[in-house]
Amino acid sequence: MCGIVGYIGNKRAIDFLLDGLTKLEYRGYDSAGVAVNCGDEGIFIEKAVGRLDSLKQKLKGRLPNGTIGIGHTRWATHGRPSDVNAHPHSDCHGNFVVVHNGIIENYLPLKQDLISKGHKFISETDTEVVAHLIEENYHGDFLLAVREVLAKIEGSYSLLFMSKFHPDTLIAAKQDNPLVIGLGENGENFIASDIPAIISYTRKTYILNDGDIAIVQKNNVQFVNRQGAPISKKIFHVSWNAAAAEKGGYEHFMLKEINEQPKAVRDTISPHILNNSVNFNELNWNSDFLKNINKIYIVACGTAYHAGLVGKFYIEKLVRKLVEVDLASEFRYRSPIVDENTLVIVVSQSGETSDTLAALKESKRLGAKTLAVTNVVGSSIAREAEFVILTAAGPEIAVASTKAYTTQLILMFMLALYMAQLSKSIPENEIERLINLLKKIPAQISETLSDVDPIKTFAQMYGFNDDVFYIGRSLDYCVALEGALKLKEISYIHAEAYAAGELKHGTLALIVEGVPVIALATQKSVYEKTLSNIKEVKARDAIVIGIAAQGDSQLSNYLDHVIFVPDTDELLIPLLTVVPLQLLAYYAAITRGCDVDKPRNLAKSVTVE
Ligand code: M6R
Repeated sequence: MCGIVGYIGNKRAIDFLLDGLTKLEYRGYDSAGVAVNCGDEGIFIEKAVGRLDSLKQKLKGRLPNGTIGIGHTRWATHGRPSDVNAHPHSDCHGNFVVVHNGIIENYLPLKQDLISKGHKFISETDTEVVAHLIEENYHGDFLLAVREVLAKIEGSYSLLFMSKFHPDTLIAAKQDNPLVIGLGENGENFIASDIPAIISYTRKTYILNDGDIAIVQKNNVQFVNRQGAPISKKIFHVSWNAAAAEKGGYEHFMLKEINEQPKAVRDTISPHILNNSVNFNELNWNSDFLKNINKIYIVACGTAYHAGLVGKFYIEKLVRKLVEVDLASEFRYRSPIVDENTLVIVVSQSGETSDTLAALKESKRLGAKTLAVTNVVGSSIAREAEFVILTAAGPEIAVASTKAYTTQLILMFMLALYMAQLSKSIPENEIERLINLLKKIPAQISETLSDVDPIKTFAQMYGFNDDVFYIGRSLDYCVALEGALKLKEISYIHAEAYAAGELKHGTLALIVEGVPVIALATQKSVYEKTLSNIKEVKARDAIVIGIAAQGDSQLSNYLDHVIFVPDTDELLIPLLTVVPLQLLAYYAAITRGCDVDKPRNLAKSVTVE
């Protein structure tokens, strides 16, 4: 979604601003802009709708020399994408500029009040209100004016302010949207909404909490709360490898991230397996804690929701506790039955998804115990939840989530095993057997990744079809949902996933000659039933591609194309079957010439409702 960058130091600010915004392109945006304080010449502002290249074109031959500046990539919420709606926004006289991620919910009454006081607005955005508010409240003290503004606005934001009157200071504030300060070595400091914008400049950072205000100068960073009282913060050292945020030789981040899954999965497993048992020091639960939990919700969006569906199977099967899985955008609006005996597990790669964060806050308000499964340490969701367990996927840049999904499955599986250990719901030797199979998964994913040619061929053969169906039963159905989402979001092919047993209740009417159907048949407990459903679609002359476990000798008798994945327990096989589906979506998108890493209309991190 939107991205923020800021620079103060001895160098030309514009160079970092453009580089930082380029590093944030993966978040998705529709316009971009920069503002640089050029001293006596005032604040230079340039903005452009479209990709960053349009902004760079506009700046050609006229890059400003000032050493303090702010920049932004915007994903439109209030007002269409346009030059004038792009950030930074300014007050009536160009004395204050601001960039903003999030939404100012009460902007309309504030705007009307400001207009009645003579302020002139030029954009349709909620953010412009903030620029005029600061002009209205400024009486010589920059920080005081920012605090007055924060007291008046409602909503979610990360905000970065610059003033012509204070060429040595940037002020940043955060509420429900991420913001980080990077500490430079030689009299310079950086500000960004995401770490990838600054990791090639510094690894020493301060991560802002809700309510924090940062006063950033080139040799100094101070923090105060909304009341103006100083607060001290600890430096957070970023251990991510800078190269991990680059494409590393692959044509697209998505392909790189698909191929990183063996490592991501291994890194997620290893801290938690000790002597054939599962260990979560960060949870430190006991059997009494579990006894008091009578209901579990898993709440998430998109791919993380699909991981939650698999998590339900794991917990219900291994722990024998009832689990409901909910879309975060639905959960909080349907009066969920939640109390102090409820455990709410939120799953989010970014840890910033607005709906998931809101569901988490609502669950806390209702007294639930909350656990976040996330990939981003220090994210809003990680900080809000009572308990946190982390996937070790590393930064996921492509909009289409891949390694985050598999690592989420791994954590859900280990969490279920951990709960099973505590509650003794399954025998110890069964836990050991599953752990031994779990340890083999990274190598089995590598094996699955080693033979992509048939998948490429299928993608080329069927990449121009208008509709594709995915079917499966039990966990195969959960994976089918994820496979269909991948295909839709990056190749723009209409894809539907059905529980195979549901076909005859309506969808079978759509299965006609030549329609591609991807049929997953790895769940041994429902294998024969799945086979019957496959025969149903085959009898209607659909083109069926099967996904089966090695050793399956039946499926090839019925189907022309079968992709085999290594065999394992049916609980773990989703970690393998999803891989060819990710690759199929990737190569279908390539065949159709789509922008794989930045699909249309989508953003990496959905930080508005
Ligand atoms: O960061 P989150 O895991 O909370 O994001 C949730 C969804 O927005 C995300 O999984 C989305 O569905 C992906 N684009 C799917 O590939």
